[in-house]
Amino acid sequence: MRSLSCVLLLAVAGSAIAAEPARHVAIVAAHLVAPEQGRVIDHPVVVVDGERIREVRTDGVVPDGYERIDLGNATLLPGLIDVHVHIASDPTFASDNYYKDILTLGSIDAALVAPTLAKRTLDAGFTTVRNLGSGAYIDVSLRNAIDRGQLPGPRILASTLALGATGGHADDDTGFSPDIEFRGESGVVDGVDAIRHRVRENVKRGADVIKFMASAGVLSNEQSVGAPQYTQEEMNALVDEAHRWGRRVAAHAHGAEAIKMAIKAGVDSVEHCSLIDDEGLKLAKQRGTYLDFDVYNDDYILSEYGKLGVPQAQIEKEKFVGRTQRESFRRAVKAGEKMAFATDAGVYPHGWNAKQFAKMVEWGMTPMQAIQSATTNAADLLGWSDKVGAIKPGLYADFVAVDADPLANVAALEHVSFVMKGGAVVMAHGVHP
Ligand code: ARG
Repeated sequence: MRSLSCVLLLAVAGSAIAAEPARHVAIVAAHLVAPEQGRVIDHPVVVVDGERIREVRTDGVVPDGYERIDLGNATLLPGLIDVHVHIASDPTFASDNYYKDILTLGSIDAALVAPTLAKRTLDAGFTTVRNLGSGAYIDVSLRNAIDRGQLPGPRILASTLALGATGGHADDDTGFSPDIEFRGESGVVDGVDAIRHRVRENVKRGADVIKFMASAGVLSNEQSVGAPQYTQEEMNALVDEAHRWGRRVAAHAHGAEAIKMAIKAGVDSVEHCSLIDDEGLKLAKQRGTYLDFDVYNDDYILSEYGKLGVPQAQIEKEKFVGRTQRESFRRAVKAGEKMAFATDAGVYPHGWNAKQFAKMVEWGMTPMQAIQSATTNAADLLGWSDKVGAIKPGLYADFVAVDADPLANVAALEHVSFVMKGGAVVMAHGVHP
């Protein structure tokens, strides 16, 4: 009975949102970056019906009956996409006591901060994110609340619980006394059959994508930072199962061997890629695997994580992979790999996502390539090229605008002056309507 009234309530709320009249707006700007064409269009008029783009005009005409939104001298771009975030955690919500936080904060605490983090992300111009791991299916509930129009936030592709081996990067118990065990549903799973079951369970709970730990990691208590943590058979089964259910797969991997194993298993993207070797680059290119490097992260971890009381062993692991990761990034750019914009925000503050653009340019991308990684390429990796990542007819009216030229200085993207999601203004010059 109670659950029925709950369903009814939601239905009413849902219909109230759907009943809002569709807005007809035309956005006028000085320039438009069209990443899918690798060029800039001057004096665009972007015509929007409801949540979708109707057309991009270059004759300066705002059609009759359309509300004009004039962005003056600004440059318009597609809403930005970050393919690797953790939307339910953030270092700005951590204390200076790593162990106290682990022992006193649970998944409900994480769920309560997630909407704030989602809003920071959207205000920073990231209108779509792929959440690669959070506990208790927080990302599914958050995604659904945002989609129902009940919370402001980006479009979310949710991975739910990240899968990983006992004692590995996804195992919260690692490094604690055997007398301590963290409760709650976990992505820790070993062996082919159990992995297939866990993938199905994630899909059943609402996962859009499957994330797993192919290798050890930095911010966890296992000794290695790059060693493989699943066998080839386990990775093969995981990818086979996920793909059968129509879900793409993202593999966390720092080490060269684990990266190659994940690519051979058929993952759609490798995350971090820190120690990738030439053979790995070649394999990724052959298979069309996306390589997603979180190249800003190292700066934040090395400057801030000591203050959060993070164990020194983890910081030493970061020192080991951080620098090499940027060199690997440069090699990947040179090799012409498919690359998408992935920050791992959550490790560093949400809303700072765009700080990574300047790093990508510093380490070998052109500003246009960096922008493409967060639009055209990211949408392709998500399987959402028909929804987001470009300003063209039929796609969602998701835009950002910046006052400076992002192709001259890509760091301009750190200060968006306008954000629209699905035809609705999210923010204009710091003001939320
Ligand atoms: N979540 C990742 C890990 O713990 C963060 C790695 C960050 N370091 C880096 N250089 N990208 O392994």
